[in-house]
Amino acid sequence: MWGGRFAEGPAAVMRAINASIPFDKRLWRQDIAGSRAHVAMLGAAGIVSAADAAAIADGLDRVAADYEANGVAEDLALEDIHMQTEAKLAAAIGPVAGRLHTARSRNDQVATDFRLWVRDAADEVLAALEAFRQALLARAAEHADSVMPGFTHLQSAQPVTLGHHLMAYHEMIRRDAGRFRDARARMNRSPLGSAALAGTGFPIDRHATAAALGFDGPMANSLDGVSDRDFAIEYLTCAVQCSLHLSRLAEEFVLWASQPFGFVALSDQWSTGSSIMPQKRNPDAAELVRGHAGRIIGCMTALMVTMKGLPLAYSKDMQDDKPPVFEAHDLLALSIAAMTGMIESATFRTGRMRAVAQAGFATATDLADWLVREAGLPFREAHHVTGRTVARAETLGIALDALSIADLKAIDDRIDERVYGVLSVDASVASRTSFGGTAPVNVRAAIAAARGE
Ligand code: ARG
Repeated sequence: MWGGRFAEGPAAVMRAINASIPFDKRLWRQDIAGSRAHVAMLGAAGIVSAADAAAIADGLDRVAADYEANGVAEDLALEDIHMQTEAKLAAAIGPVAGRLHTARSRNDQVATDFRLWVRDAADEVLAALEAFRQALLARAAEHADSVMPGFTHLQSAQPVTLGHHLMAYHEMIRRDAGRFRDARARMNRSPLGSAALAGTGFPIDRHATAAALGFDGPMANSLDGVSDRDFAIEYLTCAVQCSLHLSRLAEEFVLWASQPFGFVALSDQWSTGSSIMPQKRNPDAAELVRGHAGRIIGCMTALMVTMKGLPLAYSKDMQDDKPPVFEAHDLLALSIAAMTGMIESATFRTGRMRAVAQAGFATATDLADWLVREAGLPFREAHHVTGRTVARAETLGIALDALSIADLKAIDDRIDERVYGVLSVDASVASRTSFGGTAPVNVRAAIAAARGE
């Protein structure tokens, strides 16, 4: 394709380092779409004859059908998907195939293909996140009243509801989806027609090709069009943030599925056994979601470092833009699907969660607040009285609301029977009605609002 001025072919290692076909064959659909739009425009603008444009369009259909049926061969001599497709086109329709590359360079071609691919990837992630969001909403609705311990420092802090906890992830996922939508909107401009770097003297119509490919319009600067990969980096940063959220939820599942917690039983479909310890039910999928976040961060780092020192415009380093994006996307798609499956099928052990919430003196803050509200103590003094109450319950090995009124009065005479109204975990969560708080009434309202979206 470019051998006109060369007497010798490339060395085998040169071929191997230069070829991107082993990975960029994944762009074949986008490559065909870009070529279809380009040749239709060339025909309409009279840059190639209508007959030649029609022959090329027909040939592209045949190449696409062949790829669909047989896959893309990894012929290193043909370097990349663009040359592979052009060679196939020439084999199908003869020398007229050579007119397709008029007013185009592989530089704007690959930038276009890759944008189209990343745009599709964002759409795929958005669909998966929506399914995940619905799964979270369904389980949250089921558990709007299920009391569990809320933690800070992984110490029992205050009771919350499982529905509230799951809705926290719903909020994160909703923001993640918003980031992917923003990135998609920003990337949706066409580089096609930037040509090698400077544009072209042919009377091309970049607005027409942009519209044909579903872009909002052409990119305004040809140098920028062929040389930036910010859209891919932005996709990766969105993927990283989303994977961090998934990883935190995965970590909670790992903890919750452990025997000391016992908060969740993963379904058989989402557990694995041990080849030596028959009692094991391992949360491998959750562990791998946690692990994949690390790899996705690695992908983002790889592309950022590839781009950081490159002068304008295209440099071959940029061929390395694709593997990290493909890898991150595959890992993220698997992670979202796995977390969705785990959420949908998990059995939450609400009895155990409630017992742990009660055992951890998680309503101590409620007692302190009661002393402030009903007995007029300054909060610091109330905190001290409550500390002594917790110590007493700990000594007796009972929950706060199991302390007798005599025990409570012995600690501070200003306490009376009304205090039992706030000492139970149910009373505690029901009282947290501030906006965004864990009260079941709030959780139900948040779910209803989210379902309206
Ligand atoms: N395979 C190349 C890539 O992915 C296509 C662009 C090649 N451009 C060039 N000037 N050699 O980046």
